[in-house]
Amino acid sequence: MNVPNHIAIILDGNGRWAKAKGMPRSYGHVKGCANLETICDDMKELGVKYLTVYAFSTENWKRSREEVEGLMKLFRSYLKKCLKIAERNKMRVRVIGDTKAFDQDIQDRIAQLEEFSKDYDELYFQIALNYGSRDEILRGVRRLAQDAASGKVKPEEIDEEIFESYLDTAGIPDPDFMIRTSGELRLSNYLLWQMAYTEFYFTDVAWPDFDKSELIKAIEKYNERDRRYGGVKGE
Ligand code: FPP
Repeated sequence: MNVPNHIAIILDGNGRWAKAKGMPRSYGHVKGCANLETICDDMKELGVKYLTVYAFSTENWKRSREEVEGLMKLFRSYLKKCLKIAERNKMRVRVIGDTKAFDQDIQDRIAQLEEFSKDYDELYFQIALNYGSRDEILRGVRRLAQDAASGKVKPEEIDEEIFESYLDTAGIPDPDFMIRTSGELRLSNYLLWQMAYTEFYFTDVAWPDFDKSELIKAIEKYNERDRRYGGVKGE
């Protein structure tokens, strides 16, 4: 089996999964969080090098105060637990997104986790928190414009490589494969620049139920695809 080098996942369906069980949405997030721990182990075992998950979007602040507070609580405990998961999997963890919006203690935990795991290289795990692709691009463009204005970058020299170095994902290869759970057929402002050539996989399975067998099923589908963008196919 040809395993994608970089898999991006939109973790969707925690709320509906919980509702179907007669439970509060927060229960779905707790189960979704637990599944995130397992999936890192599975990715490592299967030989995936990069995993990027969409855990909290720039739009998710619009959810009820109760739900947002519940998610923040979950992030706090997860970021702490993730030190062990990083050590176990020799996994480097990075957070992408505008993390300045989070409470200082959450920002500190992110910094601690990134520093702790920075030399691990067996799995590269990116967590998108307060992430939106348009926001990421705008933040990058603002910095790039400042560097152009100060003469650090010449406008005529700006190419894809230079532009990418201003994104949150600088240095991380583009995703080969994107999985979205729970039936929605949208990108929802996720890695728009980075996924120009990515293969997409949509499944009705809700995130808390997306286990290793579902992951293998998805990778098998990926293997059926002919990934020759722009070139002549079938040669
Ligand atoms: C989508 O389900 C999920 C989220 C907005 C949050 C994702 C969070 C987790 C998987 C758990 C915590 C993650 C970390 C990094 C600790 P939804 O609420 O949109 O479900 P619905 O579409 O059924 O309403």
